[in-house]
Amino acid sequence: MNTEKISKKIILSGIQASGDLTIGHYAGAMKNWVQLQDDYECYFMVADMHAITTRQVPADLRRRSVDVVAMYAACGINTDQSTLFIQSHVPEHAQLAWVLNCFTGFGEAQRMTQFKDKSQQHSENVNVGLFSYPVLMAADILLYQADLVPVGEDQKQHIELTRNLAERFNHLYSPTFAVPDPFIPKEGARIMSLQEPRKKMSKSDPNQNSCIFLHDADAVIKNKIKRAVTDSGTDIIYDTEQRPGISNLMSLYHVATGKSMQEISDEFNGRGYAPFKEAVAEAVAELISPIRNRFEEIRSNPDELSALLKSGADKARRQAFKTLRKVYKKVGFVEPS
Ligand code: TRP
Repeated sequence: MNTEKISKKIILSGIQASGDLTIGHYAGAMKNWVQLQDDYECYFMVADMHAITTRQVPADLRRRSVDVVAMYAACGINTDQSTLFIQSHVPEHAQLAWVLNCFTGFGEAQRMTQFKDKSQQHSENVNVGLFSYPVLMAADILLYQADLVPVGEDQKQHIELTRNLAERFNHLYSPTFAVPDPFIPKEGARIMSLQEPRKKMSKSDPNQNSCIFLHDADAVIKNKIKRAVTDSGTDIIYDTEQRPGISNLMSLYHVATGKSMQEISDEFNGRGYAPFKEAVAEAVAELISPIRNRFEEIRSNPDELSALLKSGADKARRQAFKTLRKVYKKVGFVEPS
């Protein structure tokens, strides 16, 4: 009998629970996760501990953290197969982060461009948590021995830091961590603001018309797309430099229908913006409507959802504890008796 088990490669990813999820998250994260889940052993978490690096309303954070898990499932993550959990349910994240903090150079952390950007944005609250945010992210990844980390381009530097920390620790002690690779989705998956298409669509944008939420009703979605800023001229050609507005609508249409930019251009160019916007609005509403319905169904069943969170946290903890125990031993902590 062949008892050899071929183990799958491991993926870990997560989204901060600092705002409601948008179609940008779907295009850049969940859509890919759904495609990866058959071939990899997947851990998908909600980064609530990262969220408190900026001020949160406690009740909102609590609701949103659960919403995000429900939305993962609504987007098609198979909860029997992949592990979904809330970061703060697995205390090993904070524990490993502390150890890794002691192996991260001050200058190294200071060079992170997201830290520099966020300390400007939140100049009234530049806290130490914001500074060591990427170290906590490294702990998230290294605890599960992840091989691949699907993230947006903006997180690439954090994965680079994670790799450096893993290699540093492995080298100083003995092989402990897998050294992960980033997995960055291709262009066109990056959805921009509907009002300022040179800026990324953001859940925290104060202008709600710039952003399509995964819980938006069909009429709201259509309205936002009809009001989306377009460029001067009438060409429907993918060119993010010259025509960021129309290119973004093309990206949305691509996400909703799977058609390539060339196919979209062939279909709509020369017919003016109005019929194209109409088609984008229809297609996006058709994409989101079943997601919203599943989300509401999952959310209306709190017992099932809390069972899901418990089994996710249990499974994640088993794995996380294995790694943390090795780390504690190697750095010289006494095993509790
Ligand atoms: N920092 C990530 C972001 O803002 C979220 C995140 C936290 C994450 N921990 C992670 C992503 C671990 C991948 C792996 O998007």
